[in-house]
Amino acid sequence: MGKTATYERVAKEIAAVIGGETSAIARYATAGCLLSEAFAHYYWTGFYLVDPLKPNELVVGPYQGTLGCLRIPFGKGVCGAVARSGETLIVKDVHAFPGHIACDTLTNSEIVVPVFSEAGNLAAVLDVDSTQLDAFDQEDKIGLETICKTLLLGLPQ
Ligand code: SME
Repeated sequence: MGKTATYERVAKEIAAVIGGETSAIARYATAGCLLSEAFAHYYWTGFYLVDPLKPNELVVGPYQGTLGCLRIPFGKGVCGAVARSGETLIVKDVHAFPGHIACDTLTNSEIVVPVFSEAGNLAAVLDVDSTQLDAFDQEDKIGLETICKTLLLGLPQ
């Protein structure tokens, strides 16, 4: 099965499991688990959430993988850049990205996708890291953006 078809399958699985779930954390945990189980090129999969007490800072949320750093200021590293811009970033070689935060030295490439509330506010970023260089492409971007767009639908915020 190709990546696009796998993203479509995982999107359906996530929707089926989170249907009616009112906890954003439960939704993040479900999406992270099912994505991480589905793709061999993923190494670290998780969400950094906008901290309601510090709105210019991300705090780690549900993740699958090795120990992640706890907090990332907006503008710092790949996650912080996406939090600031609201646009997905694909980084082919994290070692060449200025200010990259090396939580795990085995990571070589990553994709970070913003997650917005139904009201259009940034709620989190989804960070997927790979040990392979240049592991993520437009198929990953479209697949992950599609999942992130529906993840928080129906939740109050
Ligand atoms: N890769 C991220 C940091 C978080 S960890 O890798 C889990 C970044 O530079 O934004």
